[in-house]
Amino acid sequence: MTCVLAWAVLAGSIGSGFQHGYNTGVLNAPQKVIETWMNETWHMKDSELTVIWSTTTSIMCIGGIIGGALTSLLSNWFGRRKTLIFNSFVAIGAGTIMGGSKYVNQPWMLILGRLIIGINAGLNAGVGPMYLSEISPMELRGAIGSMYQLVITISILVAQAVSINKVLGTETLWPILLFLVLIPAGYQILGMLTSPESLKYLLETNEDEKALSESVRLFGEEQGPINLDLIKNEIEDSRLLPKVTMRDMIHVAKYRRPLIIMCLLMGAQQLSGINAVIYYSTHIFKTADLSEENAQIATVGVGLVNVITTIFSVFLVEMVGRKPLLIIGFAGMTFDLSLLLVCLYYVESIAILAYAAVVLVYLFIILFAIGAGSIPWIMGSELFATAARPLALSVAVPANWFFNFVVGLIFLPLQKILGPAVFLIFIVSQAFATVYFHIKIPETKNRPIDEITALFE
Ligand code: GLC
Repeated sequence: MTCVLAWAVLAGSIGSGFQHGYNTGVLNAPQKVIETWMNETWHMKDSELTVIWSTTTSIMCIGGIIGGALTSLLSNWFGRRKTLIFNSFVAIGAGTIMGGSKYVNQPWMLILGRLIIGINAGLNAGVGPMYLSEISPMELRGAIGSMYQLVITISILVAQAVSINKVLGTETLWPILLFLVLIPAGYQILGMLTSPESLKYLLETNEDEKALSESVRLFGEEQGPINLDLIKNEIEDSRLLPKVTMRDMIHVAKYRRPLIIMCLLMGAQQLSGINAVIYYSTHIFKTADLSEENAQIATVGVGLVNVITTIFSVFLVEMVGRKPLLIIGFAGMTFDLSLLLVCLYYVESIAILAYAAVVLVYLFIILFAIGAGSIPWIMGSELFATAARPLALSVAVPANWFFNFVVGLIFLPLQKILGPAVFLIFIVSQAFATVYFHIKIPETKNRPIDEITALFE
């Protein structure tokens, strides 16, 4: 690991993953103060406010779908580095609009800014991991790839910690929370300006000399040319294969079957309800009768448990394998949420159940983070041959944001109508996921890609 490589990995993962995670978590704790401000301007009924708040939170995912879909276009056009630099300016624009909304008293600016930061996060989610995998040497690819999910969980935690009402989540200070996205954006611009471009991109655009000098910077005098040759061979091999089209994706079984699995995996990850917890845990804890302050502290704990379990999962996926972790996770979440449902029903008559509910939310996070959190992102590259991968990801990544959007949008309004029964949606989909993946998903650990894809023919 050279200094240049470490620097580029940090710039690529922190710069891009941070916006994704931070903006996922940042509106959770200050929901009440920001809602109050919105209502002072717009004077809404309670039910209207719920819809407006759900929209503010989840419109980021619409941006994510758009940004994710732009991945292959922009990264092939401008290169990975310039796309990430350009994308940081998008974040700067979004942060300025979101933070500025309070000073000009325009709640719609907050909603618009959330849409734009979503575009930024979606594009980051596509280009960031792509850049990381294209600058890492083969033997470090897995570890460097899982940095992205780790950065997401760390930045969710940072967001939750700085946004409690003892820090910045107050009536006057909350805009600063939104201006804060300018810092990682500035860091990403600086980091990317001084990092090498993806070698794969340079070779594909016939800049062979630049590719060689960048490879030497990344891997040193000795390893530089060797690693470059490996990438050259990969590109030559893929040029020999026929191009995979969207039509093939639908009509050819070896692409269609894993694509269905991937989309269902992304759907199941989101329909676990993870982001209902990440977006609204303070509100959920209050439903379980915790005070505002305790609910906010419990929310920070959620972020912490998520980070710690994700660190373990990086090792577990290589030791235990993908499939057992997914099945244990999905089955466990089905059981855990069923108990949570019961607790929330009886919490008003049996006070102690409030604590049981908090414990169950924590256990849920652990069960999510050991399997369903990172494995769908890892499997995205394992179920498809190189030729089909970008296209498959450009369907699967927006699918992830789509289901994320649905959960963010419907959770609060449905909870208003159904009460705790809203969790039934997650319970049923997790039960289905457990059975479906048990039957359909192959183990991919330690298997070459061609052996995996052959299973689908
Ligand atoms: C995964 C999900 C993301 C979620 C995060 C929580 O990355 O894709 O939506 O917020 O895990 O750790």
